[in-house]
Amino acid sequence: MSKGALALLIRSGDQNWAPERWRDRFRTALPGRDVVSIPDDAFDPLAIDYAAVWKPKHGELAAFPNLKVIFNLGAGVDAVLSDPQRPDVPLVRVAVDDLTSRMTEYVVMHTLMHHRQQSYLAGCQARSEWAPREQWPASAVRVGVLGLGVLGRHAAEMLHALGFQVAGWSVTRKSLTGISCYAGHGELGTFLARTDILVCLLPLTPQTSGLLRRELFLQLAKDGPLGGPVVINAGRGGLQNESDILDCLDNGVLKAVTLDVFEAEPLNPASRLWRHPAVTISPHNAADTDPDTISSYVAGQILQFEAGGTLENVVDRARGY
Ligand code: NAP
Ligand code: GLV
Repeated sequence: MSKGALALLIRSGDQNWAPERWRDRFRTALPGRDVVSIPDDAFDPLAIDYAAVWKPKHGELAAFPNLKVIFNLGAGVDAVLSDPQRPDVPLVRVAVDDLTSRMTEYVVMHTLMHHRQQSYLAGCQARSEWAPREQWPASAVRVGVLGLGVLGRHAAEMLHALGFQVAGWSVTRKSLTGISCYAGHGELGTFLARTDILVCLLPLTPQTSGLLRRELFLQLAKDGPLGGPVVINAGRGGLQNESDILDCLDNGVLKAVTLDVFEAEPLNPASRLWRHPAVTISPHNAADTDPDTISSYVAGQILQFEAGGTLENVVDRARGY
């Protein structure tokens, strides 16, 4: 095995993450280079210069003494940063148009679903019932986006283009045309008080863990046209308290939720979230990473790095995203 090899560490049973699918793509994107899928392929730990990972097990990355760069195969890096033995080398994350567009599709689809009362209409159809309700314009609905990074900003801009009143919240203040930008914990309350549909696109960090809980839901606007606040979380499950979500749906603090991510994944079949009429669930696939796009993205970065160029989208470990 020659130096400069790439190790693939994919720890997910989901179809999109089938390791052989990714190994084939990487072998095509990096011709002539050793690409091994661990644990299936034999490998020499000393020859591994690069690791491309999705939810690697803690301690796995420490097995490569010559590792130069870790490429996370998704946008969120919480699974890598939580490994106490992770090597101190640059960690690159995904930030590409393909993933951004997929997430915006998801956010727009679910915002529209709540705004256009689609669950009510599906219920009417199931009962063969012709019973239109009053429908308000998008301009009557205030959407608030938690996180104005690569994903939050694009989704916010698209929602604004559809006519919603859009605001966003981040650590550092942004300036986005037509979008009200709030920053820091001091402005979170004001942001929440003007929000009917809350979209969460935050990373999971010690600062954001458990943010989506009862105290926050109680601060959302109660006077919007939807009849109560709605929450859409496509960030990470660790951002939400599922017991609080169920309680708040039951007692009317929340009108409905869309959840793509969960405290424990896959979501336990016994969870009451599956059966709650006000809950819409997707299996953490709001924005899948595409093997063709991402293998080319990683291959391009490796070649650039080896030619003396700089890596893009390197994670700031102190911030945690
Ligand atoms: P990003 O570009 O790093 O943006 C993160 C945003 O969150 C930034 O605007 C940042 O503020 C803000 N933020 C972070 N900590 C905060 C805090 N304590 N208070 C207020 N704002 C805070 O990340 P991204 O590419 O948009 O991705 C966001 C997350 O989406 C990922 O980390 C991942 O967990 C999730 N994701 C989920 C899926 C899925 O399929 N469900 C797919 C992809 C990504 P500043 O801009 O001021 O730093
Ligand atoms: C998916 O969850 C990602 O972080 O890209």
